Amino acid sequence: MIKIAPSILAADFNHLGEEIKAAETAGADMIHLDIMDGHFVPNLSFGEAISAMSKAVCTLPHDAHLMVTDPEYYIGSFAKIGVEYITFHLEIEGIRQDLGPGRWVYVTEKIANPERMRKIISAIRKAGCKPGLSLNPPTQIELVFPFLSEIDLLLLMSVNPGFAGQKFIDNVYDKISAAAGLRKDKGLNFEIMVDGGVGLNNSARLAAAGADILVTGSSFYKAPDYGEFIRKIKGSGGGSS
Ligand code: DX5
Ligand code: ZN
Repeated sequence: MIKIAPSILAADFNHLGEEIKAAETAGADMIHLDIMDGHFVPNLSFGEAISAMSKAVCTLPHDAHLMVTDPEYYIGSFAKIGVEYITFHLEIEGIRQDLGPGRWVYVTEKIANPERMRKIISAIRKAGCKPGLSLNPPTQIELVFPFLSEIDLLLLMSVNPGFAGQKFIDNVYDKISAAAGLRKDKGLNFEIMVDGGVGLNNSARLAAAGADILVTGSSFYKAPDYGEFIRKIKGSGGGSS
């Protein structure tokens, strides 16, 4: 059965604690924390204080999606908060590609410093959390292959990160299939999470391609009935496997 991880970035911040609890009551499997530094992505979101509040009001596992240039500095504080997963980006040493006024995405065609990646992965594990790696839409899936045996979560972005409510980019299907195929061939165990523009219109195809966890921001928090949304997405092939 596919897991659903609502992104609290899309929740009503005037009632944030209740919105997080409501996700748990509705049957969500995880809480997705979108941490943005205004440098790696063109937006600021929230950090440790809100994340700690989320952990305090909700017993579900939490994954911290660090969209930050220097993840090393934040591993200790998120581990202390008790998040189960800490995910960082493969493009942290990439270059900034302009996407128009106030918009950009970091891209990379080669991993210049694989040792840094491995150090971060092992620092996350040593801190007691599960390490995750994330890829922006322009990044080729092959670049993450050398790290797949070392991580617990592969977070494939299906929007250029920075904002909730963006249009889904469908090059993610081939990446999911490639990662799921390799996982099977090599007997690996990482979970595949898809993030950005996910909803009832694409959940079944994402699950069929091999996704294990779907991040749902706007589609979840805009749904009139959160419980019904989760039942539908899990029942509609978003989760028959
Ligand atoms: C984008 C974030 C996503 C996003 C999800 O930068 O990583 O988690 O907020 O929101 P929706 O589902 O609205 O695209
Ligand atoms: Zn995210």
